[in-house]
Amino acid sequence: MPPKIIDIIPRPNRIEVKDGDFIISGKISVVAPKELSSLKKMLQETLEHCTGKKGAVEKASEIVLSLGKTDLGEEGYVLDIEPGKMTIESISPKGIFYGIQTVRQLVFSSQDGKIPCMRIEDSPRLAWRGMMLDEGRHFFGKEFVMKFIDLMALHKMNSFHWHLTEDQGWRIEIKKYPKLTSIGSRRAESPIEGDRNKGDGKPYGGFYTQDDIREIVKYASDRFINVVPEIEMPGHAAAAIASYPEFGNTDIADYSPEVKTSWGVHYYTYSPTEKTFKFLEDVIEEVVSLFPGKYFHIGGDEAPKDQWKTSPTARKIMMDNELKDEHELQSYFIKRVESILKKHNRILIGWDEIQEGGLSPTATMMVWRDWKWATMALNNGNCIVMAPTSHTYFDHYQEDPKEHKEPEAIGGLTSLDKVYLYNPVLEGITPEQEKLILGTQAQLWSEYLFNTDKVEFMAFPRMFALAEVAWTRPENKNYQDFLLRLKSTLALLTHMKVQYRNPF
Ligand code: ACM
Repeated sequence: MPPKIIDIIPRPNRIEVKDGDFIISGKISVVAPKELSSLKKMLQETLEHCTGKKGAVEKASEIVLSLGKTDLGEEGYVLDIEPGKMTIESISPKGIFYGIQTVRQLVFSSQDGKIPCMRIEDSPRLAWRGMMLDEGRHFFGKEFVMKFIDLMALHKMNSFHWHLTEDQGWRIEIKKYPKLTSIGSRRAESPIEGDRNKGDGKPYGGFYTQDDIREIVKYASDRFINVVPEIEMPGHAAAAIASYPEFGNTDIADYSPEVKTSWGVHYYTYSPTEKTFKFLEDVIEEVVSLFPGKYFHIGGDEAPKDQWKTSPTARKIMMDNELKDEHELQSYFIKRVESILKKHNRILIGWDEIQEGGLSPTATMMVWRDWKWATMALNNGNCIVMAPTSHTYFDHYQEDPKEHKEPEAIGGLTSLDKVYLYNPVLEGITPEQEKLILGTQAQLWSEYLFNTDKVEFMAFPRMFALAEVAWTRPENKNYQDFLLRLKSTLALLTHMKVQYRNPF
């Protein structure tokens, strides 16, 4: 008999299959201490949902959730499956939650109402297992974001990086600055599908109220997902500057900020004045009140220096602060913002341009360009998250665009196997440096993600490959085995009405 395929993604780090089966088609009682009552309820709901069967059978079985003394860390768990009884044990509710996700997948993938008996001892390889969603270019709405969070949680991802502001749209309500949404969340038109240089003539907009944000953050937190807000600065800020032109470089020629209607890098940046820092301080204060997590993403990427070069005000600020060029001004800007964040006990995280002109020793950097930036940050002792274009940009094509007809993407090629084979832990680094690599994350930039179907098409199944990169230790990974397990995961996605790309 061929070995049983244990349909779990990401693959657990240790599985020992035993004799016998656990029957799921009957009544299952879930036993848990009071502290785990919400997880107990979650498991009960998914059992009902997955088996579709309730009510009496000859013999009841039991799933026990237990906060015990495993030595697998907060996110680790032991799942012991015997005939008639399963036990999920962890030192913390997080680990119990991940054990439940494993059980959900096993229940769903069972063809015959049985799960083979086994013992799983599991814990993640990396602490930061992330997905970034860009809602600046397109706005997807609360219902979709919650569905996306569900899919992340089911595959043990734990960081949702929410890109909320862009040149083409500001998507988060800020009470003190209402024009950020009344003006900044709307653009006159968008590039049409199939020709990025033509406008569609249709006004486009959308934003999240603070109540929406609180609801989503709570929903994510119930699933042990931390939400990292991103408020872009000093570049990618045209929508904010169109809303409040006084925070841009007003003293340059032809100053006429607008919410942008085309993609690409635009050259409107915040002016580095005290007035702007006060504005950012106010915005940050409202944002941190909505997002309890310790990381605050300030973007920092692709901030053209053209306006700072020609603005007399920016030049004076450079002189007054003895900054030798615009890169040092960028570094000055980021450090000013970091000092605001520190007052709120938040850690600044930014794209790898934040080290141009000098990286603050306390900032965390998200590596998206050349890996040399990662090495430099590690040599400097900074923490990093690996999010490189080479392996984790899910706005790229999944198959060679010359050979296959995939819907329009921004370019590039990030195939499923390429994602799967990615190793975010750089070679040749010291064990101390390895500890500074917090984890990895995929990017869903949304210029060409016109609607939620397209987001799903680009995200799945590649997210599953990344989940396994982040969770499963390299010696336990195997791409062919992953593909076998993926079939069952895709059946679950069909059931959940997800418009994934079928790689088979
Ligand atoms: C980026 O892709 N501009 C971070």
